[in-house]
Amino acid sequence: MSQTPYGDDIYTEPADVDVDTLANLGPLARLAGRWQGTRGLDVNPKADGPERQPYLETFDLVPIDPQTNGPQLLYGLRYHQFVTKPGEVGAYHDQVGFWLWEPATGALYQTVSIPRAQTVLASGRASADARRFELVATRGSTANGIVSQPFLEQAFTTLEYRIVVTLHDDDSWSYEEDTVLRILGQAEPFHHTDRSTLTRIGAPQRNPLARARG
Ligand code: HEM
Repeated sequence: MSQTPYGDDIYTEPADVDVDTLANLGPLARLAGRWQGTRGLDVNPKADGPERQPYLETFDLVPIDPQTNGPQLLYGLRYHQFVTKPGEVGAYHDQVGFWLWEPATGALYQTVSIPRAQTVLASGRASADARRFELVATRGSTANGIVSQPFLEQAFTTLEYRIVVTLHDDDSWSYEEDTVLRILGQAEPFHHTDRSTLTRIGAPQRNPLARARG
């Protein structure tokens, strides 16, 4: 008896896959393109307490070709978020990964990789027309977890990552993130939060297969 919604055949890919990713991204469709944020706010841990830091960012979200895992079909965006402090050019935060949506189940995934040597897989669920969606990752989970290199794991243990995305009517969108850290020597968990609103500076690209097929 099958334990998954995909049947017993874990190898055969779906037939007749629509190669136009932009038409199948569900709630993620509006995120495709190049974006700019000028009013970000970061709260991060410093030795003498929380630091509140305004930030600027550019966000590129590029449609990828449809991705199958045997019978499972995912559509998605590859992203790069590059954050600076106002007036500076160097990275204040640099993040890459994928946003993925599974039309058959409404499952949403975000992969997060940052150059602290830390990687997250967050998951959630949303309908195709959702204007707000939330994804969560929890340390220790093998389905939606967080892995960190040994120094971070010891000194700044990341317990949970949560992101809420809201799509606005004027072709802008916002995110609110809460990364919960257990910091060595501190009794209470620290809420490392980031929020920003993104306005469009570039149109969505089409994915390679859709471009090739005209
Ligand atoms: C816009 C988003 C983000 C910005 C601007 C940002 C910025 C920062 C800054 C400035 C620090 C303190 C660095 C230091 O003093 O050395 C920090 C610490 C940290 N951040 Fe972020 N961060 C963001 C998102 C994230 C995300 C998504 C994660 C992981 C899911 C993350 C994980 C951490 C960890 C584990 C630390 C503790 C390490 C340390 O303080 O050296 N951050 N972040």
